Amino acid sequence: MEKKQELYSGKAKSVFATDDNDYVVLSFRDDTSAFDGEKVEQLSRKGEVNNKFNAFIMQYLSDNGIPTHFEKLLNATESLVKNMKMIPVECVVRNVASGSLVRRLGVEDGMELNPPVFEFFLKNDALHDPMINEYHIETFGWAKAEDVNKMKDLTFKVNKLLKKLFADAGMILVDYKLEFGLFKGGVYLGDEFSPDGCRLWDAETRKKLDKDRFRQGLGGVIEAYEEVAHRIGVPL
Ligand code: C5P
Repeated sequence: MEKKQELYSGKAKSVFATDDNDYVVLSFRDDTSAFDGEKVEQLSRKGEVNNKFNAFIMQYLSDNGIPTHFEKLLNATESLVKNMKMIPVECVVRNVASGSLVRRLGVEDGMELNPPVFEFFLKNDALHDPMINEYHIETFGWAKAEDVNKMKDLTFKVNKLLKKLFADAGMILVDYKLEFGLFKGGVYLGDEFSPDGCRLWDAETRKKLDKDRFRQGLGGVIEAYEEVAHRIGVPL
């Protein structure tokens, strides 16, 4: 598989073409951003940690019946994935109230949510990723109704699997964001799953082990990501 020209560069990852149109190379950079790209810093080792973390989670989800774009690890910072048409919608599940939910609704940070809350957001930095619902997605043609249902269903299945994976390693999966894409007509989990796109707290101390450390300037960002990786058995 030969790596070719860069197709797209996001805030933390770049996508490169290959000599096979069905596959692209996902390259994880050290760039770390928050607040719709307003705060950006380079955090040494982040690309490598997130690439390996994501590979481990995607493989675990694939092994447990979730269709994902992940094919294989190529090197420390790159993975081979399916060349999907991405759906511009973020799927968020919340098991515990935190972040924008607390700001929006004034509920208590740390409150357990039963049943978990599901939210859709439009992936659009200029508009600050506004919250949307099924009607917006269908009316504006961002995805077909049946694919919206699949995204929702898969996001909840991922919750069941990952809540347990992290709980068994002494952590609470507070919330997370997933993105999906279309490949040969099917809906597949895309983008990445890493501490950049979820909230994870130590179950006993409630210490934050995710990107909130970067957002809130708490320090020890990559050290926390590495701790999570070690606890769940990601080979770094
Ligand atoms: O900011 P908010 O509380 O809505 O985020 C919910 C979850 O989705 C968090 O785990 C956050 O890291 C993730 N997220 C993300 N990318 C975004 C928005 C949220 O990974 N653009």
